[in-house]
Amino acid sequence: MSSAIIEINQLYTQFGSLIIHEALNLTIQKGEIIALIGGSGTGKTTLLREIILLEKPKSGSIRVFGQEILELSETQAIWLRQRCGVMFQHGALFSSLTVAENIAVPLKEHTDLSQRMIDEIVAYKIAIVGLPPYAGVNHPSQLSGGMVKRAALARALALDPEILFLDEPTAGLDPIGAGALDELILQLKKLLGLTIVMVTHDLDSLWKVTDRIAVLADKKVIAAKPIHELVNINHPWLQAYFHGARGRAAQESTWTAK
Ligand SMILES: Nc1ncnc2c1ncn2[C@@H]1O[C@H](COP(=O)(O)OP(=O)(O)O)[C@@H](O)[C@H]1O
Ligand SMILES: [Mg+2]
Repeated sequence: MSSAIIEINQLYTQFGSLIIHEALNLTIQKGEIIALIGGSGTGKTTLLREIILLEKPKSGSIRVFGQEILELSETQAIWLRQRCGVMFQHGALFSSLTVAENIAVPLKEHTDLSQRMIDEIVAYKIAIVGLPPYAGVNHPSQLSGGMVKRAALARALALDPEILFLDEPTAGLDPIGAGALDELILQLKKLLGLTIVMVTHDLDSLWKVTDRIAVLADKKVIAAKPIHELVNINHPWLQAYFHGARGRAAQESTWTAK
């Protein structure tokens, strides 16, 4: 049985005279991995930011955990953000802190846990993202790109969120590192029962990890379907996306892997 965890209705977003979203609708089910795709500047990052109240739309409705969030007070907004883990594209770790200290930041900010408890939770988060225990004492600059992403993921998971938002998680990684991160995302979903909303351009990730893909085009979500149903939709942007050379290569490599 599925139930909605995020319901967006008739959403309008505008910056100055620039209309980004116009009557956008999207429902996300609990426990699914859904990707947002769309051309650059179509408002994917903005949509993520609106769902956790870092940005305010002009009008419309966003219900998260059954609650209309656009009516929440600033205190209630903190409650919402605590239940959501976020890894932003450029949301880098604090470079002056070690990995362990970075992961501890949300725990120190939002809980009264003792240092000993925090240390234990941090060690557990380091383990579940597949980092070696010693990574905790390293500073981000001492780690590879893939390890930095894992550390950022560990920090996003610090408060045991129910929804995880990932903005272009595999960007900047080589194909092997990206593939390993995809595996980790799938494992974390199974292990923690997460709902995952990810923005990605990575066609390999799209085929491998997503249950559904929401396509932003023409200022709205023009389709939200499993990938094999999307490839046949007759929209110019989608056709170019899936039937260009890179799109075909990703699809073929999935077939041979299955
Ligand atoms: N706070 C803001 N003020 C003004 N314009 C913004 C703001 N945030 C985003 N934009 C604009 O909105 C559009 C959508 O941005 P974004 O959500 O980052 O797109 P995407 O993530 O799909 O590439 C872009 O044209 C961007 O410049
Ligand atoms: Mg973006």
